[in-house]
Amino acid sequence: MIDKNAEKTISAIVAERRSTPRFASTPVEQTHLRQILTAGIESPSGYNLQPWRFVVVREAEQRRKLRAASHNQPKVEQASVIICALGDPEGWRAGDLEEMIRIGSEHGYVHPSKSGDTRTLISDYLGGHPNLPMWLNRQVMIALTTMMLQAEALGYDTALMEGFEENKIKQVIGAPERMVVVCLLAIGFCEGDDKRYGGRFPQEKVLFGERYGQSLDLKIG
Ligand SMILES: Cc1cc2nc3c(=O)[nH]c(=O)nc-3n(C[C@H](O)[C@H](O)[C@H](O)COP(=O)(O)O)c2cc1C
Repeated sequence: MIDKNAEKTISAIVAERRSTPRFASTPVEQTHLRQILTAGIESPSGYNLQPWRFVVVREAEQRRKLRAASHNQPKVEQASVIICALGDPEGWRAGDLEEMIRIGSEHGYVHPSKSGDTRTLISDYLGGHPNLPMWLNRQVMIALTTMMLQAEALGYDTALMEGFEENKIKQVIGAPERMVVVCLLAIGFCEGDDKRYGGRFPQEKVLFGERYGQSLDLKIG
């Protein structure tokens, strides 16, 4: 159950979080869901362009359809909330850039006299980007990961999922053709035993100092 007085620390989440294998039907509290979603959309993004969109699926019938679009993974139907994280590769052309500049001006993030330069700089950057899907994926996953961490901090269990058929998911949630489905996040409560920790690669294999392949010396003093 949720302990209303104690949010988990990041260190505790890192140590204890597992990708939940099975969910109970216990609902996610609305106030918590709002907090989780807000945390996600407060995430950083390149040029603050926020190219993410999230469809929050709670209805049982929608979850049943999402399960069918996700290689029949039971947790998609079991968890009381599924967040479908989408990226909009054309959003910046279709109004997001202008809205970012407008909001940024209100907050003193974009100086009004510089809005033209900002528009040109970002249009050139994204218009000629060599790998826009990767750019989009970066932004969306940061926001979805923040939602996952906020949910875990509040005491919920979570599962990220990439096992789905994109076109089928888009059909179920009615996403426009141009949108990319990046990932799903299930939020709820674990039922039964949690998944076993799978271990991680040794640090020497994945952490380097200064140059790729060079060992990282983290000795103190
Ligand atoms: C982006 C991403 C997509 C994933 N997709 C699935 C999935 O579709 N189905 C599933 O059962 N687990 C999925 N997982 C969970 C991984 O299998 C899991 O994170 C990994 O085994 C490590 O276990 P842990 O998260 O419990 O530490 C996914 C994890 C990530 C980060």
